[in-house]
Amino acid sequence: MKKRIGVLLSGRGSNFEALAESIASGRIPNAEIAIVVSNRDGAPGTDRAKARGIATRVIPSKGLERETYDREVVAVLNEHKVDLVCLAGYMRLLSPYFVAAFPNRILNIHPSLLPSFPGLESQRQALEYGVQFAGCTVHFVDENLDAGPIVLQAVLPVNDNDTEDTLSARILEQEHRIYSEAVRIVLEDRYKIQGRRVIRTT
Ligand code: GRF
Repeated sequence: MKKRIGVLLSGRGSNFEALAESIASGRIPNAEIAIVVSNRDGAPGTDRAKARGIATRVIPSKGLERETYDREVVAVLNEHKVDLVCLAGYMRLLSPYFVAAFPNRILNIHPSLLPSFPGLESQRQALEYGVQFAGCTVHFVDENLDAGPIVLQAVLPVNDNDTEDTLSARILEQEHRIYSEAVRIVLEDRYKIQGRRVIRTT
């Protein structure tokens, strides 16, 4: 049986697209994207999903209390029998209710070497801080911002002439690569969690 992935997004959807591409090409075997949920109407990511023939659902979050909203989203994910939830540019914190509904079954991609620069505009924060190495992180999701155990990271040097745009573009390439790799590791159960550490078993 193919493992079923639910993708949550709010915007562009390039990480969604990278996952879809990895599934299509066999880099993530035995998996399918069962549903793409957006909390924002008109997110380009949902158009990308439709173009690939993947089911989409827009569930507007505006004005709803966090858990009330999350109950709706979890119901849709369960309706589509989702095994793994991938946040891909999903601009919301998850409630404890959501996290408990998918224990160690929610991943996020973040464009910094966590725990540095959580939150928004991480690439700009990194440049302004003056770090010489930047990167991205795939981690399990808990109810805190960009905070759960780290599955994979990619590191890249910051160049003297980097701007927010050039650095973000190089980080994004790595995001697309390590997100697929991390999804494969998790779906194939090739890890164990010890405290905060994610240890590879094969
Ligand atoms: C990515 O940089 C991701 O790391 C962050 O939000 C951005 C989403 O980009 N969480 P996209 O929508 O996947 O293109």
